[in-house]
Amino acid sequence: MRVRRALNGDESAIAAVHVAGWRETYPGIIPASVLDRMEIAAMARYWRGALAGATGSEAWLAEAGDGSGIVGFGVCGPETAGIPGCRGEFQALYVLRRGQGRGLGRGLMAAMGASLLARGLVPATVWTLRENWRARAFYEKLGGRRISERPLDFDGTMVMEVAYVWDDLSPLAGPEVAP
Ligand SMILES: CC(C)(COP(=O)(O)OP(=O)(O)OC[C@H]1O[C@@H](n2cnc3c(N)ncnc32)[C@H](O)[C@@H]1OP(=O)(O)O)[C@@H](O)C(=O)NCCC(=O)NCCS
Repeated sequence: MRVRRALNGDESAIAAVHVAGWRETYPGIIPASVLDRMEIAAMARYWRGALAGATGSEAWLAEAGDGSGIVGFGVCGPETAGIPGCRGEFQALYVLRRGQGRGLGRGLMAAMGASLLARGLVPATVWTLRENWRARAFYEKLGGRRISERPLDFDGTMVMEVAYVWDDLSPLAGPEVAP
């Protein structure tokens, strides 16, 4: 397994994992209408724009190392919700089911944590759906402290999101990062 920085041209792979990750994770939480109309091409355009530099976001990819390609990604950058005192944010994290439980989620968090730390984007937050108990347990295991919540509107269905914060990212940041 390997975690590396995303390069120009990786947007379609990120988009494919993003769409598959939502469809694996959110049935029963986010309305099916939203999951059904997700499109990889549209998502790739979104990520191409988001990673073009203007927002300060950067992406990391996880490769399973068994020839099955990219199985996860993470995106981090400046904090986006205006939580007082917070400067950084883990903006997305998805590891497909076939790659889970092998340290890739932790590896992506380590790479992003090291990057946010190096850029001085600390404390750093992550938002996750309140009903996404597995992700919440993962963030809590990695030392996240619950700090806020907000409602999100998906096709008229209100879904709560909760935020976790890390005041110190150094315990998260590890040596798994490939240049
Ligand atoms: C949550 C997620 C990122 C975790 O990634 P992963 O690759 O499966 O996790 P790892 O193998 O890196 O696990 C790292 C540690 O967290 C623990 N862990 C993983 N999932 C956990 C869970 N649901 N509850 C408690 N601990 C968990 C592991 O046991 C491991 O501990 P260890 O290092 O002491 O053995 C991944 O399961 C995922 O992408 N889920 C679906 C999408 C999602 O919910 N994303 C978050 C959106 S905000």
